[in-house]
Amino acid sequence: MSGNESDTIEARLGEQEYYRPPPAFVGQANVSDPAVYERFEDFPEGFEEYARLLDWDEHWETVFDGSDPPFYEWFGGGRLNASYNCVDRHLDSYGDKTALLWEGEPGGTRRIAYQDLYRMVNEFAAVLRDVGVTKDDIVTLHLPMVPELPVAMLACSRIGAPHSEVFAGFTAPALADRLADADSRYLVTIDGYYRRGEFLDHKRKADAALEDDTVDIDTVLVFTREDELHPDTDLEDGRDVLVADRLADHHGERIDPVSRAANDILFLMYTSGTTGKPKGAQHGTGGYLSYVAGTAKYLFDIHPTDTYWCFADIGWITGHSYIVYGPLAVGATSVMFEGAPDHPHRGRVWEIAERYDVDIFHTSPTAVRMFMKWGEKHLQPYDFDFKHLTTVGEPIQPEVWRWYYEHVGKESAVIIDTWWQTETGGVVISNLPALADMKPGSVGQPMPGISPAILGGDGEEIEPGMGTAGYLVLSRPWPGMLQTLYEDDERYISEYWETFSETDSDDWHDWVYKAGDSAVLAADGYYRVLGRLDDVMNVAGHRLGSMELESAIVEVPQVAESAVAPRDHPEKGQVADAYVVLKEDAESSEEIREAVVNAVSEEIGKFARPENVEFVTVLPYTRSGKIMRRLLTEISNDRELSDTTTLEDPSVPEEIRQQVESH
Ligand code: WTA
Repeated sequence: MSGNESDTIEARLGEQEYYRPPPAFVGQANVSDPAVYERFEDFPEGFEEYARLLDWDEHWETVFDGSDPPFYEWFGGGRLNASYNCVDRHLDSYGDKTALLWEGEPGGTRRIAYQDLYRMVNEFAAVLRDVGVTKDDIVTLHLPMVPELPVAMLACSRIGAPHSEVFAGFTAPALADRLADADSRYLVTIDGYYRRGEFLDHKRKADAALEDDTVDIDTVLVFTREDELHPDTDLEDGRDVLVADRLADHHGERIDPVSRAANDILFLMYTSGTTGKPKGAQHGTGGYLSYVAGTAKYLFDIHPTDTYWCFADIGWITGHSYIVYGPLAVGATSVMFEGAPDHPHRGRVWEIAERYDVDIFHTSPTAVRMFMKWGEKHLQPYDFDFKHLTTVGEPIQPEVWRWYYEHVGKESAVIIDTWWQTETGGVVISNLPALADMKPGSVGQPMPGISPAILGGDGEEIEPGMGTAGYLVLSRPWPGMLQTLYEDDERYISEYWETFSETDSDDWHDWVYKAGDSAVLAADGYYRVLGRLDDVMNVAGHRLGSMELESAIVEVPQVAESAVAPRDHPEKGQVADAYVVLKEDAESSEEIREAVVNAVSEEIGKFARPENVEFVTVLPYTRSGKIMRRLLTEISNDRELSDTTTLEDPSVPEEIRQQVESH
């Protein structure tokens, strides 16, 4: 989408009433003094407050080095180990305390105390060493929601090997792309896992991914979900290693945490961008861990005595930052679960919340809309009591917010909406829960030390209260931010910085981070995020690039070309509509429609399937040959068509609209 179009986005937003944080919450909050904002205005030193929450092997010398923008360094000269900070250092005070509380699908709870986690992480670190993993080798994980996933992450960070976890719902081709891009030689997977009563054969995805010529894997480590191997799992001699067998050789072994420089890589997290190729967001060790520990304590208000449940998948950034690194760094009990929220029944979430006396619950608006649709009767049988509720990932509609407040929070929990991205590492816009009134539908104010702004396409700042939407940008660096895109500095600059920065300047003040979202800033300083301005969709909380889906769809032999656009959906937030042009000799049919949907399921994963397939004869191309997906989005959502003058043929969108309507 080109620069000046955001000016024309109208913000039709009704003002909402405020809700005060409940006094009982405020009384116990980690942060209840507004001076925190002033302290963090002292840039960059304010952020040292977060870094001091960690144990460092060597203290940092420089808080922030901005001499080579936009490649920033945080806490340079410092050394630390993430696994030590999330596990070892809690042993003295909380050794017996539950670190991870895992709820498996067919039942079967595992309470993993910090002491147990310490043993598991050490033993798996020994196995990694045993198969040859050394410092700086990137280990790809393709693990579902089993305790072995956080164990593997922490074992990697213990020995200084960056991990790259690929969401388990991704299929072989998507896994292969990520393995190849990260030049990973090690893969960790599991034979199977449970979802809705089925024991899924997961390892086969790794087998298929490894057939790809671009992938060069030496060793596949295979965890087992049950005592017996999944009946369909094959092991390849010389390549596949059963973790259970190797663990037996390393029983009780201890591996010293490898001291990492603050700016050494902790992990990669692939995410969708505007081209087909996924981007490897690279996060460093000291800045990232400080930021997620700080936000876990200040924003999620986690106390070591709290049971905290982030209802996300660790395969995405939310789970990395706020199931694993953040909560464990501050010594919490973090709940994780396998399966689906409606299996075996629709009260499962509330049953778990009651059973473990969960204090803090963190989920997406998509999940809240789903709970709302299922109805209050599924909550009523359970006696849960939250002090703090969170939403993340998409805009939340005020009526959905109020339902969450009333029925889940029972009007006595504080609610925060949190805006951030894979790239930002942790939350950057959200109200500190004891310090600001809640306003349904708004994410709220910037986090301490963060300085967002809304810019028009011309780069001019849009003042608060104007009611005009524009580009959401962050004008000052922060410790949680990505370091770059893995081995692609150029793309890092072009995706995030080029639009609003003076790219020939050495002064970091001239560099502005473009988030890719549009937002409005109200007169009270609260931000409201509207959605993506680029070709990235947010389907049921999963971030997907249009181009990724399109490349899968054109694999169908009868398809000539395709463009994918998001359509607003009452429950899922957005769903994908696929516009498909067939080759001349092909005719639209139910079979081709199914083939299109299946192509996405097979190339990416079921979660990405397009909801609608529209057969059309043309797509809207600009004179420079780019598909204008924005016009398709308008057609999908029954909106008026915006400017079509840059199109090769300005009559095309109307033609498409008529073809869609005639079906
Ligand atoms: C969207 C997830 C509105 C936004 C943490 C962003 C949101 C993208 C919110 C990042 C929110 C995230 N309100 N929209 N509170 N939080 N988004 O990388 O479009 O999976 O750019 O990170 O989700 O998705 P990602």
